Amino acid sequence: MRSDFVKPLLLWYNTRSRDLPWRKTGDPYRIWVSEIMLQQTRVEAVVRYYERFIGELPDIEKLAHCAEERLLKLWEGLGYYSRVRNMQKAAILICEQYSGRMPDEASELKKLPGIGDYTAGAIASIAYGKAEPAVDGNLIRVLSRIASLKTDFSSQKAKKSLTEMLRSLTVPKDESWGNLNQAFMDLGATVCLPNSAPLCTECPIADYCSAHQTGEELLYPVRPGKKARRELNMTVMLIHSGDYFVIRKRPARGLLANLYEFPNTDGFLNEDETIRYVEKMTGTYALRIRRIREAKHIFSHVEWHMRGYEIYVSSPSETVDLPEVIYADASEIEQKYPIPSAFSAYAGYLNINIGKKTGNAITTEE
Ligand code: ADE
Repeated sequence: MRSDFVKPLLLWYNTRSRDLPWRKTGDPYRIWVSEIMLQQTRVEAVVRYYERFIGELPDIEKLAHCAEERLLKLWEGLGYYSRVRNMQKAAILICEQYSGRMPDEASELKKLPGIGDYTAGAIASIAYGKAEPAVDGNLIRVLSRIASLKTDFSSQKAKKSLTEMLRSLTVPKDESWGNLNQAFMDLGATVCLPNSAPLCTECPIADYCSAHQTGEELLYPVRPGKKARRELNMTVMLIHSGDYFVIRKRPARGLLANLYEFPNTDGFLNEDETIRYVEKMTGTYALRIRRIREAKHIFSHVEWHMRGYEIYVSSPSETVDLPEVIYADASEIEQKYPIPSAFSAYAGYLNINIGKKTGNAITTEE
C-alpha cells in the first residue's frame, strides 16, 4: 500500500488535532474508557459522559468495585449497555490477573471482555505507542477512498486483511501509530465525511487520494446490503399515583437487561385495554387516562414504535404484594434509576432528563 500520504496526514493531525480530554492523558485506563464510549457514539456527546465517569471512577480498581446500578446510571443515555458491563468484567480480571495494570500488547488486551481488534489496536497504539493499526469506520472510509478499495469491509475477515495491509505503511521514526490512527479518525470525522459530504477542498491529502483523482469519492466505501429492522409496536404507560410514578426493572437477560423502564407492553392498546393492563399490574384502579405523544427509537435490529398514555391511579393497596412494581418520585427516578434513552420522549412528562441533556447521544443501540 502507498505510504506517501502518511507524512502530510500526520502533519495535519499535529497542527489540527481536536482538543479532547482523553488526548491529554497517557493513562491506558482513561484511553480505554474513551475508546469504549466512542464506539457508536459521537465525540461531542461522549465528552461529558467521559468527564463524569472518570471523575467518579478514576482508576481500574474503582471500576471493578462499582455497584451495577451506579455503573448503569453513569452510562445512561450512551446505550449499548453491554459495553460497560464488559468493561467492569475486564476491570475485575485486570485486578485479579494483571495486578491492576492494563496489558500493553494488543494480543493480551484482546483476551479481555469487550476488547476486540479495534479497541486493542487503539489502546496499544495510543497509550503504549505500539505499532498497531486500529481499523474503525472512519479509517475504512478514508483508506477506501485513498486507495480506491472496492472491498466491502463489513466482515471481520476483510477488516483483518486491511489491518495486515496497514502494517506495511511506513510511519516516520519520530511519529507513532497512536497519532496515525487518530489522524485517520479525525480526518474521517471532520473532512472525509460519509455519504455526499466529503470536504475534499479542505483535505490535506487530496493529492494522494485515488478516488479524488477520478472524482469517485462517493463510490467509497463499498457498503453491504442493509438488512431490514424488525418493527415492534408497543404501548408505554406513565402511571401517576399521587406524587409517585410507576417504574419497573427489565429482565436480567436480553435487550437493555436490568435497566428500569416505564411500564409497557407489546402492541398498540386502546384506552380500555390500557386501563385493564395497568389495574392488573398495579392492583390499583384507574382514575383518569389520556393519550400522550408517540415516539420511535431505533436499535440496530429492531425499531420501537411507541404509543403513550398518562394514567392516574389510586394509591397502591398495602395488602397486595407486587414486588416488580416500583413507586418512585421524579427526582428519585432521575438520580437513582438507570432508564434507557429509548424512553426519553416520555421523561418530559415527569420534568426530568434521562440519559441526556443535549441532543441524542446515539443513533442506534444494541
Ligand atoms: N473515535 C474513536 N476513538 C477516537 C479517538 N481516540 N479520538 C477521536 N475520535 C475517536
